[in-house]
Amino acid sequence: MARSSIHIENVDCLQGLKAIDEGTVDLAFADPPFNIGYDYDVYHDLQTDEAYLAWCGDWLSEIKRVLKPDGTFWLAIGDEYAAELKVMMQRQLGLTCRSWVIWYYTFGVNCTRKFSRSHAHLFHMIKDPDSFTFNADPIRVPSARQLVYGDRRANPKGRLPDDTWILRPQDTPDSFASEEDTWYFARVAGTFKERAGFHGCQMPEQLLGRIIRVSSNAGDLVLDPFVGSGTTAAVAKKLGRRFVGFELSAEYAAKAAARINRVRVGAALDGPAQPTLSAPSTREGRRLEGQREKGKRPTRPRPATSQQNLPGL
Ligand SMILES: C[S@@+](CC[C@H](N)C(=O)[O-])C[C@H]1O[C@@H](n2cnc3c(N)ncnc32)[C@H](O)[C@@H]1O
Repeated sequence: MARSSIHIENVDCLQGLKAIDEGTVDLAFADPPFNIGYDYDVYHDLQTDEAYLAWCGDWLSEIKRVLKPDGTFWLAIGDEYAAELKVMMQRQLGLTCRSWVIWYYTFGVNCTRKFSRSHAHLFHMIKDPDSFTFNADPIRVPSARQLVYGDRRANPKGRLPDDTWILRPQDTPDSFASEEDTWYFARVAGTFKERAGFHGCQMPEQLLGRIIRVSSNAGDLVLDPFVGSGTTAAVAKKLGRRFVGFELSAEYAAKAAARINRVRVGAALDGPAQPTLSAPSTREGRRLEGQREKGKRPTRPRPATSQQNLPGL
């Protein structure tokens, strides 16, 4: 199959996947609709459980087929179907789960009668437990030994990212930083410079950067069956990977392609690579008391209120 290095097709992912030769993809990443009633322009995101799971089974089987024997698959999914899809991938498809990563994000939807959701699941799946790409060095992060304790025994290269509770990650660099397996990256909220502006589920480039760096090498073929705003493609291009992806919506596909055209190979990823280091700490923050004294309303992050700001993904 001859393809240009970055290839986005406006087709149903099942059709697109079936056209890919068996065993040719190094890394697949999927951020499917979560079946939570999100308002996409074409796709209807409210199927029966049975229909949704059957559909997931279809495209997951195709992903397994197109992966190389030493290929890797990452699935981003919400709480609603995480358990069923993990069991499906392991028991029915025979994939192995290497890591169950929690992506912890800020700027989620503000809830009043339940805890506001601030996480999504990232399943790191492989075909062959004895042979798969895992590049530790490009994704190392500063360790607490380096950042907090000044410990000479600290590995100067930092440590691998490692699940946990957190209030504000920037306040607890030693107990819940990005070196743990709960990963903190803010969602791409409405006001962020990074936001492409046409898709409410745009993922942060830094999140995809970590996945693509650890699970593929330069020149490898990366697949995303649900292109959306094109984040996976943009990051693959910046990091010198080849890319193939599918998007049901003609509008999203065209806008994602335009986004990719503006991206240059080797360019820096958008967003802070070390959000725990770049965000201001509480110590440096503004005090509510001071503002009240001056008769001002305290400032705080605006809760997301519209569909546009549903938890990514
Ligand atoms: C959660 S979004 C992906 C967001 C993406 N990760 C990003 O960073 O922008 C899911 C996308 O899948 C698309 N989609 C839904 N069903 C599809 C199908 N059968 N084939 C291809 N794309 C589909 C939707 O239009 C939507 O843009």
